[in-house]
Amino acid sequence: MAVLTIKDLHVSVEGKEILKGVNLEVKGGEIHAIMGPNGTGKSTLSSAIMGHPKYEVTRGSITLDGQNVLEMEVDERARAGLFLAMQYPSEISGVTNADFLRAAINARLGEGNEISLMKFIRKLDEKMEFLEMNPDMAHRYLNEGFSGGEKKRNEILQLMMLEPKIAILDEIDSGLDIDALKIVSKGINEMRSSEFGCLIITHYQRLLNYITPDYVHVMMQGRIVKSGGPELAQRLEAEGYDWIKKELGIEDETVEQEA
Ligand SMILES: Nc1ncnc2c1ncn2[C@@H]1O[C@H](COP(=O)(O)OP(=O)(O)OP(=O)(O)O)[C@@H](O)[C@H]1O
Ligand SMILES: [Mg+2]
Repeated sequence: MAVLTIKDLHVSVEGKEILKGVNLEVKGGEIHAIMGPNGTGKSTLSSAIMGHPKYEVTRGSITLDGQNVLEMEVDERARAGLFLAMQYPSEISGVTNADFLRAAINARLGEGNEISLMKFIRKLDEKMEFLEMNPDMAHRYLNEGFSGGEKKRNEILQLMMLEPKIAILDEIDSGLDIDALKIVSKGINEMRSSEFGCLIITHYQRLLNYITPDYVHVMMQGRIVKSGGPELAQRLEAEGYDWIKKELGIEDETVEQEA
């Protein structure tokens, strides 16, 4: 069973400290949700875990099954079993979705263990059907011209194809229509097992009606300031964040930004 452990994580972007001591442990079999106001560092946390070069870890540690993630290159992190669905997935012109997926799977499996073309196609067909995706999507350039919702669904296709140990899904529900939200949730629920841990970043309780999280955390001003069960997400949906700010004596953010 995989364990992602984050201890006292401090992260700066261009000299400005964004994360100010994040502690979190995600184990295989668990689903965690992180909620929190805009600009509080949720995406920064996912970028730091995946090793985005702009995000400098100034203090603290990230380990996966005891291995130091901070010492790994980005591709090593993916090979070790970490996966990130980005809030804004990148478009890659000239690389088809299918080619990208096959290369990513083979990178994960390592030399000598590559997936056969037949097996790959069978798996791809099966997962695309499960996610009710148009088969043409496999042959289009990665994310190029994909609608917002198609990009999100495609991230779940990647998740199901790559079968990571720990996945971080950053606003996987944003821009999804009601049916797509159900399909994306179905995909995540299908992945649920003791071999899979998941960190879902979301603004809305809505997604959590379909995927019941084991833990809900609230991030504010670069820290996890409160943790609880699904009832915490329900209270946030009903009451917003003011009560937490009051409870903790947190001043309002000076800079807020749009999602
Ligand atoms: N590459 C960057 N360059 C400059 N500032 C950045 C960069 N990445 C993040 N920041 C800043 O760090 C803060 C946290 O941003 P982050 O994207 O982590 O917030 P978030 O919690 O994901 O917000 P949202 O809910 O709006 O997605 C913001 O003030 C943002 O402007
Ligand atoms: Mg974000």
